[in-house]
Amino acid sequence: MRTITLGLLGLGTVGSGVVKLLQAQQAKLEQTAQVHFHLKRVAVAHLAKHRNDPLPSGTTLTDNIDDVLNDQDIQVVIETMGTVNLARDVIKKAIYRGKSVITANKDLLATDGPQLAELARFRHVDFMYEASVAGGIPILRVLSNSLVTDQINQITGIINGTANYILTAMSSAGLSYQDALAEAQEKGYAEPDPTNDVKGIDTANKLSILSQFSFGRALDPHQLTVTGIDQVCKQQLAAASQLGYAVKLLAIARRKGDCIFTFVGPALLPQTAQLAQIAGVQNAIEVNSNALGTTVYTGPGAGAEPTANSILSDLVAVADHIMNFDCGKEFNGYHNHLTTNSIND
Ligand code: NDP
Ligand code: HSE
Repeated sequence: MRTITLGLLGLGTVGSGVVKLLQAQQAKLEQTAQVHFHLKRVAVAHLAKHRNDPLPSGTTLTDNIDDVLNDQDIQVVIETMGTVNLARDVIKKAIYRGKSVITANKDLLATDGPQLAELARFRHVDFMYEASVAGGIPILRVLSNSLVTDQINQITGIINGTANYILTAMSSAGLSYQDALAEAQEKGYAEPDPTNDVKGIDTANKLSILSQFSFGRALDPHQLTVTGIDQVCKQQLAAASQLGYAVKLLAIARRKGDCIFTFVGPALLPQTAQLAQIAGVQNAIEVNSNALGTTVYTGPGAGAEPTANSILSDLVAVADHIMNFDCGKEFNGYHNHLTTNSIND
């Protein structure tokens, strides 16, 4: 069986989830992809922190990202470090060196996704990022494959697991905002700095990625009007509940002609609405399209295992493309018909 050699950047919540799932599901993955996966190098920031981390035999730990980028055996780089500028630089270098890249980095993708995808196409490598929106829900595949022949009119989502966890814990379990946030951090749902989670910025970034796949055009997340949940208090949640509503951090993008109208902020939903039932770390994306009408996709929106599962589903796709490319076929990545134009509300 042919071997595909991997490099992993980052061994935090998501990176260590990838290593664990890769080890647990190695046999099934290899049978599906018909290749052997060898995780050759893992790069971290602080070597000492990871001295006792269980890594597969034959995997080397380094604190120098160049060890991964310069390794000519490595065909696929999985980026789970976070950061924007460093990750952009590293991903570009990996692509220029002919490596396919899989990432969960929505902060980077929201602004640079189309350009990086274009660069990857130019270099005939894959650039995939299913894990960047809604954790374990394979929403980018749905939008790029199942709905590719449909016309999408609107997407409405609960797409930040931390914010939904906090709102649920405050309203159902009576936790304070700070205690609910601490729990979300402890469970690995929140970003290392949770500002983007609670201020709606992570939601806006993901809405931009969803717009790329739904409407073929990126929204500039910096141009959106965004409100978070950090000012929502328990009394408001209780009052909403008495009136028959649930408060959810919603992301909405609707296409009308050449315009895309957006909303990102806390909103009241009737308790009977399907999205009002989405609790804890669960996410949901409701798609309104011409052929299908309304479809709703739900599942875990954050955390090590769901996110790693999305990353490994990308890995199987990349392996398939590598094998096909060797048979003379072109890479195709996602069918998202992206343009590099950005439009705003
Ligand atoms: P963590 O903070 O848990 O992990 C980040 C990892 O990257 C750490 O292992 C850190 O090393 C490493 N790292 C940071 N800087 C460098 C560097 N300069 N060189 C090498 N390694 C570096 O973050 P998460 O795992 O939670 O998130 C990672 C990415 O995945 C982010 O882009 C996040 O937005 C995204 N994401 C997270 C999800 C989640 O549920 N947590 C879900 C979907 C996406 P060290 O450990 O030594 O400090
Ligand atoms: N911090 C993010 C969230 C991780 O809570 O949704 C998943 O993207």
